[in-house]
Amino acid sequence: MTRPAATAAETDFHERMHAAHMYGLWELASQMTRHPEPKAIPYMWKASVLDAMVREAGEAVPVGEERRALQLFNPGLDGRWATTNTMIAAVQLLLPGEVARAHRHTPTAIRFIMEGAGGYTAVDGERVYMAPGDLILTPSWAWHDHGNETDKPVVWMDGLDVPLVQALNAMFFQFYTEPQVPLSKPNNASVQLHGHVSMRPTWVKERPLSSPLLLYSWEKTWQSLGELRDVAGDDYDGVAPARDSRRTATPAAPSTTSSRGPERRSSTARASRGSGGTSSRSRPGLCTSTPTCPRVTPPSSSRFRTGPCSRRSASTGRKSSRRTEVTRR
Ligand SMILES: [Fe+2]
Repeated sequence: MTRPAATAAETDFHERMHAAHMYGLWELASQMTRHPEPKAIPYMWKASVLDAMVREAGEAVPVGEERRALQLFNPGLDGRWATTNTMIAAVQLLLPGEVARAHRHTPTAIRFIMEGAGGYTAVDGERVYMAPGDLILTPSWAWHDHGNETDKPVVWMDGLDVPLVQALNAMFFQFYTEPQVPLSKPNNASVQLHGHVSMRPTWVKERPLSSPLLLYSWEKTWQSLGELRDVAGDDYDGVAPARDSRRTATPAAPSTTSSRGPERRSSTARASRGSGGTSSRSRPGLCTSTPTCPRVTPPSSSRFRTGPCSRRSASTGRKSSRRTEVTRR
């Protein structure tokens, strides 16, 4: 129904109300949506472009106060420092002999190693050595630095809940007084203590809020996925085991939920091995996906959709109802 033109009195009232920093709820009704309508769009940063930019960054930008990390800005978020609504993904390069100086921050970080073995992330005095496919955790407010003592570049994907922390107005950041935090634990100590299925170090009494295991190795992940290859898995997510901490019964990184497989939630993904595709058209590279329907069992009167989640095409903006399909190998 066409709304009648505003009268002069209505227009005058609205102008004075806005000048006083007030808006009527009747003006904001369109923001009360029946279901989430994310602004982030499915998008893929092609490996060919990423690789070239990362290599060039190694020549053009020294590691200084800040890391040499290329931040992936979602084209749908109007220049926000965000890859999805709650996460920022980045690709970081550390050349042979380089050190990325120690700092800490309230956002939680994960590292997904893309290239190069033998670099390390040091977390609270423990060096965690990295190999392709590994997942490394850096809990909120933990001191951490990175080093590459090999003769080859090391590249990894960073994932941090920066947009979420910013929305909570909880961003804190601090440099350490020295380039690196002194080592206080053996290398890969968390793996020695907590990396064994069904065995728990009874003498360790600490109960951290985040996972005490800092390294989830690709080798063990690949073995687990292989043993699950014939399992049907979830109707929507397929075979996507999450990395939970056995000690805390919480996700390995609470605000990020790391898993292997296709995601229906807002996510950033990178294929580690094999080939396949998603409805957001991923090929080798990094891609985001954006859900637009709630994953709930609705009451019969609900107007929520069920079934395959619609996704907007990155290239056309049109919605697609194709299910995510990933080749299992
Ligand atoms: Fe950091």
